[in-house]
Amino acid sequence: MRKIHSLSRIALGAAILGAGFMNANAADETIRELAKERGRFIGTILNSEWFNDAIEPEFEEIHKKQFNVVVAENEMKFDATEPSENVFNFEKGDKMVEYAQANGIRVRGHALAWHSQVPNWVNNYSGQKEKLLAILKNHIMNVVRHYKGKVAEWDVVNEAVNDDYNADWRSTNSVWYEGIGAEFLDSAFVWTHEADPNAELCYNDYSIEWGLREGSKASFVVEQVKRWKKNNIPITCVGTQTHIEIAHETTPQNVRALAKALAELDVTLNITELDIGFPNGSAGSLGASDYAKQGHLYRQFMDVFLEEPNMGEFVMWGLTDAHSWLDEQQGKTQALLFDKQYKPKPAFDSVMASLKAHPASEVKSPYPDSILNPPKDCGDESCGDSIIAIKKFIAPKGMSVQLVGRTLFVTGIAAGKAAKVDVFDMQGRPTFSTKCEKSRADLSAIAEGLYVVRVSNSSASIVKKISIK
Ligand code: G3I
Repeated sequence: MRKIHSLSRIALGAAILGAGFMNANAADETIRELAKERGRFIGTILNSEWFNDAIEPEFEEIHKKQFNVVVAENEMKFDATEPSENVFNFEKGDKMVEYAQANGIRVRGHALAWHSQVPNWVNNYSGQKEKLLAILKNHIMNVVRHYKGKVAEWDVVNEAVNDDYNADWRSTNSVWYEGIGAEFLDSAFVWTHEADPNAELCYNDYSIEWGLREGSKASFVVEQVKRWKKNNIPITCVGTQTHIEIAHETTPQNVRALAKALAELDVTLNITELDIGFPNGSAGSLGASDYAKQGHLYRQFMDVFLEEPNMGEFVMWGLTDAHSWLDEQQGKTQALLFDKQYKPKPAFDSVMASLKAHPASEVKSPYPDSILNPPKDCGDESCGDSIIAIKKFIAPKGMSVQLVGRTLFVTGIAAGKAAKVDVFDMQGRPTFSTKCEKSRADLSAIAEGLYVVRVSNSSASIVKKISIK
């Protein structure tokens, strides 16, 4: 008997040890490792407190251990990077890039053209279209060139669609829309692409997780993406911010539908600012079932993310409930994966469970290997022409031209090759000729009117009617 007992004790001990050993293994696994195995990026912001060295040490320890994509909460917005006219401040953005490069983390840039957090000096030019175009172009060219090869993806335009039942452009309280019109979006994408041809370019917005019904914000965004793709405007991704509440149970499936609609346009959908908050004043009364429900909703988003092949990034707008814009500005609370003591919540376990339930062999990635496994110490040109997602934009065969303001943007010309630009009036009479340098030609010398432009080089040519306003 004793022998059997001792045998069963050994077996039991081995079982516990095994389990413990397994749990220990499980405890070592991170979101970051599972994301990388699946060719995906999962991450969160660096809160403004981090930039001000006013955050607990646990924050950065967890951030770099658990996540492989990062974005600045405020420090790369217009008011932070160009606080006064043509005076740029990259100090905090550089701090984030250094952190990211030291820890092998992908960087999102947020946000170039947005109606909010615009410095006052810009508003002094409200209504002045040419000046505002010049300001926006100068901002984009300086900021994007500064981070060329270091910021993988930009929120080129943020929140330009209104919140009406029948969506349309945000036409009030937007210095860009009111001063320039909707063309500011097209120009912003073209200029960003020109400043860093390898960056991925997103349109980012909130409340597009509410379904594709006729007239909805999401449908309006999809229609704009169709138009941009048809006009060869270089957009590669849409960001659904996805700031939701615990009661918003239909949103994961709406995000799936949006991903499928964008997949047809060969555009990636990223979750860019997810938080799942509890309503005002509920902090003190939340129990295990509430946090389990939150975990269930996080898991549903992660399931959709891993199952849709054109989804690339899953970014939450905060790491710990100790630092969240929701508490400061929205009166919501407890929305994130880690609690105020930096302990993982059920939502963290749910995210891990979803990742483990989707083996790497079953998860497709929208990214080429040059993004998933970038060459080491890759600067800008030093890595040669690493083809990344922007190849989707250069997909059109041969040349294409796009007139933005007075600049003609030409794509499809081999790098470094020039092309000749001839402009004819509508009677076919030669009006103007110039060379196309670095994929663009300046037509500012031409008077307003309708013309035909011909772009040609040794191997191809294209003719297009243009209207110079
Ligand atoms: O930097 C100043 C500081 O000097 C001053 O003492 C303090 C008190 O007035 O304000 C500080 O600026 C605050 C800034 O965050 C930096 O902390 C602004 O008042 C505050 O309005 C700003 O809030 C940010 C908000 O965007 C502004 O719209 C939030 O932190 C940030 O989480 C939030 O993020 C946005 C995304 O960019 C776009 N999507 C929605 C998301 C939530 O609103």
